[in-house]
Amino acid sequence: MKAKRFPDGFVWGASTSAYQIEGAVDADGRGESIWDRFSRVPGAVGNGDTGDPACDHYNRWRDDVSLMSELGLSGYRFSLAWPRLFPEGTGKPLQAGIDHYDRLIDALLEKGITPLVTLYHWDLPQALQDIGGWRNREVVERFADYASTCFDAFGDRVKDWVTQNEPWIVGVLGHQLGIHAPGEKDLRGTVVAMHHLLLSHGRAVQALRASGSDGRAGVAFSLFPHYPASDRPEDIGASEASDGYVNRWFLDPVLRGSYPEDMRQHYERLIGPLDMIRTGDLDVIGSGSDFIGVNYYSPRLMRADPEREPFGWAVADVPEGEPVTDAGWHIAPSALTDLMLRLHNDYGDISIVITENGGVFNDAPHDARRIEFLRDHLDALHKAIEAGVPVRGYFHWSLMDNFEWAMGYAPRFGLVHVDYETQARTVKDSGRYYAQIARTNELPADE
Ligand code: FCB
Repeated sequence: MKAKRFPDGFVWGASTSAYQIEGAVDADGRGESIWDRFSRVPGAVGNGDTGDPACDHYNRWRDDVSLMSELGLSGYRFSLAWPRLFPEGTGKPLQAGIDHYDRLIDALLEKGITPLVTLYHWDLPQALQDIGGWRNREVVERFADYASTCFDAFGDRVKDWVTQNEPWIVGVLGHQLGIHAPGEKDLRGTVVAMHHLLLSHGRAVQALRASGSDGRAGVAFSLFPHYPASDRPEDIGASEASDGYVNRWFLDPVLRGSYPEDMRQHYERLIGPLDMIRTGDLDVIGSGSDFIGVNYYSPRLMRADPEREPFGWAVADVPEGEPVTDAGWHIAPSALTDLMLRLHNDYGDISIVITENGGVFNDAPHDARRIEFLRDHLDALHKAIEAGVPVRGYFHWSLMDNFEWAMGYAPRFGLVHVDYETQARTVKDSGRYYAQIARTNELPADE
């Protein structure tokens, strides 16, 4: 492979989220989040782990910003913990929370690192769950208030905002299968919650415009390129249908202002009228995002399975001989090129930011497989950029090993290793490799 240059101004970043790294869950008046509650349910999280102390980043942020600078990052995606700013989800913001993020943002800017700030990365204040969480439409307005507060407090320095992280995952894992907080298992509630998450994105975009800030707002979707497991027409149909469930249900309303008709019919058949979608909602949801955040991990190979509840399709096994991560996730870089081209063809010139991409490789500090993963995915991304897809930046998941939700601390995603006993950070080989790319804006030639 020859060296590949990226466009001038391309952002090289890394991603984290508050609950996965901050720890300090009781510090300075922070309120309880649904993950504090859920992770304490026996059996909910691997090894009984919780997000406390995670990487103790709430106390170690200064050192972590220095580490980012050593890695040559030009961008850092992190999330604000809603319960640190509004312990009860609403009311008057807590000054200690604002001060904390003020200091973090200033430190990043001093080092020339552009913040990309996520407003909601799954840590809903428990007080809002107590009134129904995302199933309650009122929470959309509480989110818009929270977003406005953040735009007022930080919008002079933060220009790039991700409103919601992965509404499909919040739906499927949190509300349909009960694997993530709040641990519900209700398909109708899932569709309601996902609609409200999308609506809250639109309301936040409106709030950003109303704040008078010149910032940009987007939403991060977990997009899974779909392929049929065989060329049987049933499998091709299953793949197209599941693409509606996973991808189009989110892309279409945000980028076209409508829900896809095929999936609407599926849901109506299963849960009755979609009366949670009120007149005018789609105008709000489709009201002009500035970019789309793409979290890409794996493709989905689909096969028809008529007996299978609730949709009659199933995810096929990873084909024999294909590479997988230590979490068993299919490694398929070429699917990233396909995904980028598809977004560009189907949805036009919207700017794209890769807000997450990475894998579990439990070797440290010599993580040759993560280096290979990075090289192959960046090569795949470069192909799409050369074909004219407007990709503005790449944020690797993750800056450092952290609390991986229901899997706890066992899977390691970081460019930096964290020793959870001592909180020592050690840059992995992949971190050094990534630093070289970030500094040169070039994927190096193979040796
Ligand atoms: C995504 C989440 C992120 C992290 C990665 C591995 O679904 O957004 O927080 O857990 O997966």
